[in-house]
Amino acid sequence: MCAKQVKKAPAQVETTGHEWDGIEEYNNPLPRWWVWVFYATIIWGIWYSIAYPAWPLLTQATQGYLGYDNRTAVAEEIKRFDDANAEIKAKLVAAPLADIPATDALNTYATSAGAAVFKTFCAQCHGSGAAGVQGKGYPNLTDNDWLWGGDMEQIYLTINHGIRNTTNADARYSEMPKFGADGLLEEAQIGEVVEYVLQMSGQEHDATLASAGATVFADNCAACHMEAGEGDRTQGAPALNDAIWLYGGDRETIHTSVFGARYGVMPAWAGRLSEDEVRAVTTYVHALGGGE
Ligand code: HEC
Ligand code: HEC
Repeated sequence: MCAKQVKKAPAQVETTGHEWDGIEEYNNPLPRWWVWVFYATIIWGIWYSIAYPAWPLLTQATQGYLGYDNRTAVAEEIKRFDDANAEIKAKLVAAPLADIPATDALNTYATSAGAAVFKTFCAQCHGSGAAGVQGKGYPNLTDNDWLWGGDMEQIYLTINHGIRNTTNADARYSEMPKFGADGLLEEAQIGEVVEYVLQMSGQEHDATLASAGATVFADNCAACHMEAGEGDRTQGAPALNDAIWLYGGDRETIHTSVFGARYGVMPAWAGRLSEDEVRAVTTYVHALGGGE
């Protein structure tokens, strides 16, 4: 039950004695406790602005006598974390690449650190689940179909030096000729070889054109894609006799690939990632499913 507040009649309330044009001012002071809390916040505010960085000056703010700094606090936190991992990182860098997946402690650290590196630096092209981007030339890294090779050593080389970039002297390199754009093949020959690629990948095709295309293929393509279209990892030439495509396996997309070639580029990571990070993300990619 709450008691009803009884309103004081105007006459019972003291006034401050001020009066303007017949209007008087009541004397209703704030509760004492409120006033003390208010004073306390002012004092606390003054102390705080002296103790911590607060007042903006010309080039920087006052530093505060406690010497507290967000940036230093974060840097200390990072250093504590780095120190805790220093030993395992050193082991990761020292271990022979091929041994990492089989060494439990290294493998556990590398796959989780590698996953973080991948999400930050690789996912924008290869997708957050590393499944690649269909039709855009960003390969799926979770299958066992490799352009350049899927053992630890080959993945490590690919990541360190990249592919067809102009920034790393050891980048993997190969260049499919622009058969149409540079006039190396007649349009009719391109039509034929496209039918042949459709045939070797098990798709619906024109058999007459495809058999003519077999000759075009042997003369112009087999040097890189190999005789049966199984591809060649030393040149990063993809297999054409399966259902996995970098750019696409329909008639029109294959035509575009043959006419103008593609020239997929991947940046180099040596120098941008530390050695332990490259090794960690190598282990992560290797573990995704298609590692050899
Ligand atoms: C700017 C886009 C881009 C980024 C970022 C990128 N890649 Fe790639 N990556 C590519 C392309 C394009 C290819 C295929 C090139 C080709 O046609 O040979 C490729 C190929 C690869 C291959 C070779 C696959 C095979 O089948 O042999 C590996 C391994 C790889 N990337 C790993 C990574 C990792 C790990 C990162 C992050 C550190 C990364 N990539 C970042 C674009 C990228
Ligand atoms: C010098 C080596 C070389 C020769 C010769 C060559 N290619 Fe390629 N081809 C490649 C490489 C490397 C790629 C990977 C794509 C890239 O450049 O990024 C490729 C990609 C392709 C693709 C796209 C595959 C996909 O998964 O989307 C097709 C289709 C193709 N080649 C067909 C041909 C045909 C047909 C010929 C002959 C007329 C030919 N290539 C000759 C190296 C070669």
